[in-house]
Amino acid sequence: MLVGREAVVGARLDEDGVAFLHRHGRPLDFQHAATFEHEVHLVVCVRLLAVSLRCDEHVHAELEAGRVVDDLVAAARGAKLLDDGFDAEGVHGLDATANGRLGVVSERARPLRRGDLDPDPLRQLRAWFEEAGPLVRAPEAAALATATADGAPSVRMVLVQRFDERGLVFHTHAGSRKGEELAANPRAALLYHWDPLGRQVRIEGRVEPVPDTETDGYFATRPRGAQIGAHASRQSAPVEGRAELERRVAELEAAYEGRDVPRPDWWRGYRLVPEAWEFWQHRESRLHDRFRYRPAAGGWAVERLAP
Ligand SMILES: Cc1cc2nc3c(=O)[nH]c(=O)nc-3n(C[C@H](O)[C@H](O)[C@H](O)COP(=O)(O)O)c2cc1C
Repeated sequence: MLVGREAVVGARLDEDGVAFLHRHGRPLDFQHAATFEHEVHLVVCVRLLAVSLRCDEHVHAELEAGRVVDDLVAAARGAKLLDDGFDAEGVHGLDATANGRLGVVSERARPLRRGDLDPDPLRQLRAWFEEAGPLVRAPEAAALATATADGAPSVRMVLVQRFDERGLVFHTHAGSRKGEELAANPRAALLYHWDPLGRQVRIEGRVEPVPDTETDGYFATRPRGAQIGAHASRQSAPVEGRAELERRVAELEAAYEGRDVPRPDWWRGYRLVPEAWEFWQHRESRLHDRFRYRPAAGGWAVERLAP
């Protein structure tokens, strides 16, 4: 991506893709609020793109500091499209209102419209996951809910190590509370929450074991400390004290010195195969946008839910 040193104040689409508008270059056309909204939307896309690509340090800093949006807000104010008392803090973009003026869309409250959604929920998850990447410390962290055979629920965080058309994979101790609940009742729900984006994604379905060969391959990529830790802990069982764990780690380090640490049999991969999804976007005044995906002939049916 070719980006000059001048401050970028906007972007627009041309035949070749996104073209940047420079502070001293072509002025933006503010004749129509709708056009302006489109420009701001593009700028925010470009900002996220630049942040994720780390394309140019200078532009990155400008974008990161929100100066691109600030410049557009200043221009909108100059064009008398905004009220004088308008506060640009935390602004994601601007939205054209019915009276031809501009309304404010905060960073965490951008609209989610049916047309924004990918018909394939997996691709939709991937798009949101990638947007969360630069903004959230562990975007792969999700709450996992399981239940006993008679329906008593429990929930805890896990790391969803990968997802693809087969489902979403996490790893845990088969003898843990969640492992035992999954053995008795192989259904679960996952919930991602990406606060800086004001988004949550709910996924529900049945859970199946990941084949051992696949899990072995993944275990081999884990840091040695985590591999030893997996052997050392009978997850969810009572322990006398921390000293007991540390003694066990020391014993295992001695036992495996100079050799690879094999995957313990109880350290397993689990794959949640989605049967229902929900994508939730925070909006102002509790009027959030929610869309549920459910299986339909050859694909997924999408419906809007009340917030
Ligand atoms: C961000 C985060 C990620 C975690 N990831 C995992 C994980 O991938 N697998 C796991 O077994 N426990 C993970 N844990 C620990 C679990 O939340 C939980 O304490 C543990 O699995 C025991 O749960 P259980 O007794 O309900 O089986 C994670 C905790 C946090 C806070």
